[in-house]
Amino acid sequence: MEAQRRIPKIREASGFNAVISENWGPLDRTPTLVPGTAEAAQAHRERFLAAVDRPGDGVFVIGSGLPSVRNDDNDHAFRASSTFLWFTGMGIDESFLVLTDTSSTLYTQRPAGPGDPDFFGNAAYGELWVGAMTGPADWSAALGIDVRPLSELDDDLTTLGGPFRGLGRIPDALAHRFDIRADADARRVADRLRQIKDAWEIDQMRAAVSATVLGFEQTVGQIATAKTMDRGERWLQGTFDRAARTYGVDVGYATIVAAAGHAAHLHWTRNDGAVRDGDLALLDMGIEMESRYTADVTRTIPVSGTFTDAQRAVYDIVVASQRAGLAVCTPGHRYSDFHFASMQVLAEGLDDLGLLPVSVDEALSADGQHHRRYIVCGVGHHLGLDVHDCSHSPYEDYQDAMLEPGMVHTLEPGLYFHVNDLSVPPEFRGIGVRIEDDLVITADGHENLSADLMPFGTDEIEAWTQARL
Ligand code: GLY
Ligand code: MN
Repeated sequence: MEAQRRIPKIREASGFNAVISENWGPLDRTPTLVPGTAEAAQAHRERFLAAVDRPGDGVFVIGSGLPSVRNDDNDHAFRASSTFLWFTGMGIDESFLVLTDTSSTLYTQRPAGPGDPDFFGNAAYGELWVGAMTGPADWSAALGIDVRPLSELDDDLTTLGGPFRGLGRIPDALAHRFDIRADADARRVADRLRQIKDAWEIDQMRAAVSATVLGFEQTVGQIATAKTMDRGERWLQGTFDRAARTYGVDVGYATIVAAAGHAAHLHWTRNDGAVRDGDLALLDMGIEMESRYTADVTRTIPVSGTFTDAQRAVYDIVVASQRAGLAVCTPGHRYSDFHFASMQVLAEGLDDLGLLPVSVDEALSADGQHHRRYIVCGVGHHLGLDVHDCSHSPYEDYQDAMLEPGMVHTLEPGLYFHVNDLSVPPEFRGIGVRIEDDLVITADGHENLSADLMPFGTDEIEAWTQARL
């Protein structure tokens, strides 16, 4: 198969082509991989083949995806399909795993090095432009499987003959040529397996949370500077995003820095507001590591170091809700149990504040849901290679499933009062509080990976924040 991406060829006089092609020494093309990546990917392939229906029926084709062009030879940042990453450990664009019950073969681009017309002529793959490119031989040595040039994919698929079962991201042209159909049943199996992290994956999650904690510390340390600016939220975002690029690959999702009334918008990624004394700052941030596993942590702190009475009252309810959720994050409970436990406490707290127009029981009933006006989202999600990991799983595999050791999920209750919400008294308007931790379910309970970031209680948070302002 030829490259799917059609990068305009760069043409130069033939004299220049000769000049640019010669007199280059060797480059190190060894890929950067976290130790254990190859073994983890192999174990994932084996688990999949042991679990999937009819493993010997046809050929799985699992694609990493293509970069999206922003302009000319400038692409948007590429992020490989998480399914492909789980099967291969390889985060490279335009690559494919061809998997049968007896063979695993990867296909990827060859390096366009000196002597190759693309060395200078292709700004997407030419090593003169993009630096050393790992090719099939180096990937094979690093991952311990057969890796072949992409140019051989078509012939090999023709020889294998199909039927082809698609996973990950398959370019349309390839899908049409070989009638590769997305295999929803196989994807469901892969997602169920991905929900249970092995020891290596849990180590990656631990590393992601550690890096994220460091990023939080650095971000909170910039609050004094942010307060002097019109767009202090952006300054704090930039601080965290720099930490993500430095300690990991990137952020695992768009960083949310929401001060004042912005915290009530769950997807406040504009981050263009001011950060002022008297505000709360809601920081929802996570670093994706080289392994591509990500953290997802939220803390809400008083910018001045001291909560107002209304902020404190709301915060106390969210902490109590978090504690109620944590108590049922253990094997023997369903995934949805922590959602209901946290929601119960939020409804009771809203009632204590006089903010529920009906009784707690009525609010919690299917016909009520009055408390949900102040928390329209769920209070957790699986976490792993994606921030909302395995989010396509059906209800029975996700919300209705039993918690099992190795599952990693967030717990993130919150209360959100919009600045223009006339259903609450003025002192509550603009307050948004979320606490989000990353949990691993263990044999007898859970481990809270992000517990050490900062204490829970309001007095303790004030002291923690004041020490960093
Ligand atoms: N923290 C991002 C999310 O859960 O959507
Ligand atoms: Mn989350």
